[in-house]
Amino acid sequence: MPDTTQNTSAARAPHEPTQTSATQVEAASLKAATSETTPLIIAVDGPSGAGKSTLGRRLASELKLLYLDTGAMYRAVALAVLRAELDPHDAASVALVAQTARIELAGDPQALQVRLDGEDVSNSLRTEEIAQIASVISTNSDVRREMVRRQREMASAATRGVVLDGRDIGTVVFPDAPVKFFLTATPEQRAARRFTESSDAAEYEAVLRDIQERDARDSTRDDSPLAIADDAIVIDSTEETIDEVLARMLETVEERSK
Ligand code: DC
Repeated sequence: MPDTTQNTSAARAPHEPTQTSATQVEAASLKAATSETTPLIIAVDGPSGAGKSTLGRRLASELKLLYLDTGAMYRAVALAVLRAELDPHDAASVALVAQTARIELAGDPQALQVRLDGEDVSNSLRTEEIAQIASVISTNSDVRREMVRRQREMASAATRGVVLDGRDIGTVVFPDAPVKFFLTATPEQRAARRFTESSDAAEYEAVLRDIQERDARDSTRDDSPLAIADDAIVIDSTEETIDEVLARMLETVEERSK
């Protein structure tokens, strides 16, 4: 297995996954989809909280592909912006941060580690504050250009293939990807999934509002808005479990790679 942690300017690619799983047999039947010669690219796009990262990780593990969480890259830039005490709307300063920050995604899909300038920041990226800043800085075209360049570079290091999750993978980053999913669920369902038993109704309302605000910003921005690629398979997971959606995704990959 090649070492894919090669440093490329400011970005570094993760290792391809090494873990095994109960569905190895299924993965083996998808051999054609993951041939050594033609790396398979699978795009997983959709709004916040639709299950992209859970499903993207599982899909990558099952198929033994590299997994790139592109949202984590925007979140890492957001953290760098927060730490530098910059205004997220200050386009030039934010672009400079995006161009110079060293962002690395390392490890297996199920335990992806995000490093910012060498520091493991995985546990600092999941706050609502970072989510909101990431949503703002991802409207910056210079930031997007840099992230897309790095995503293509990291993906090119994957010999078997790669699963990327994000908002613009099937429309902009890899418009020719042979397999594209667009995962969705109602805002209420997505908010409910974040709503723990210890949360109260006011918290649910706040989560729902944050989701709606981010959906609106991600879908209406000028540069690469969240959109369904013409050839994407849309999966509404409102009424389905993760396992059911995963099974449908695996079937689709198999069909599309025949
Ligand atoms: O998927 P996520 O919630 O971790 O993404 C954080 C933010 O980054 C989200 O508001 C939209 C943005 N993003 C993007 O614009 N393009 C991507 N490919 C991935 C994320």
